Amino acid sequence: MWGVFMAKQVKSRQRVTDHGEVFTATREVNAMLDLVKQETERVDSRFLEPACGDGNFMAEILRRKLEAAKKRAIPPRKRKPLPLEFEKQSVIAVASIYGVDLLIDNVIACRNRLYDIWYEEYENICNNEINEDCKAAVRFILDRNIVCGNALTMKCVDENGIEIDEPIVFSEWTFIMGSIMQRKDYRFDKLLAGNYMPNALNKKKKRADEYTQMNLLSIVDENLCDEGEFVTSYVADYRRVQEHG
Ligand SMILES: C[S@@+](CC[C@H](N)C(=O)[O-])C[C@H]1O[C@@H](n2cnc3c(N)ncnc32)[C@H](O)[C@@H]1O
Repeated sequence: MWGVFMAKQVKSRQRVTDHGEVFTATREVNAMLDLVKQETERVDSRFLEPACGDGNFMAEILRRKLEAAKKRAIPPRKRKPLPLEFEKQSVIAVASIYGVDLLIDNVIACRNRLYDIWYEEYENICNNEINEDCKAAVRFILDRNIVCGNALTMKCVDENGIEIDEPIVFSEWTFIMGSIMQRKDYRFDKLLAGNYMPNALNKKKKRADEYTQMNLLSIVDENLCDEGEFVTSYVADYRRVQEHG
């Protein structure tokens, strides 16, 4: 029994001791996400997981959001999503999910896992209209949104696991007109200085707390960014956001 548990939820006893690394099983992930079901099924609702591991929660959130993206991309009286509209909606879905983890292998695994989930749906819906720039844009967004850092000190951590004197910065991605996307960067520590627990989760707080225990899953409030310290802003076509490295 321990062997089965080990294989799925624990990589090594040392990592459990050093970092509290025990992954959440799919059943618990879904039970917890169902507490805020409506939000998980909204393409643009923002989620942040400050101890994301390899993305068990984020993967499920993305799957739900992509389902919503498909529905949103279906024109009236039609049955199939429009590929270009799905592409845009799916970029919004990816761009609204954020994570932090101390360990670089988890961060890389998480980025790749979300990319693969996104790409599978992208290929399904847009099969012969796949756009290479869009693929690069999604990779770039995931690199920015899933950060190797310490969620307690809110500083970045390098690939050797050493904390560096660089604040964690998150990007807010918003379509401002047609295909034009704005990226606004904010310091994580300043964002948290505001009240970022949304009403949706506060209402369910007691039950959510029972489920979360070590996981600090948060939905980022819609107005969050009005309160944080704004660092910088860029505007580009959504397929070219990576040009502002
Ligand atoms: C209990 S695991 C949970 C992983 C994932 N949320 C899940 O439910 O499967 C905790 C994760 O938090 C990470 N972690 C521990 N301390 C952290 C910190 N101060 N900042 C960011 N991540 C941290 C560990 O590396 C580990 O991946």
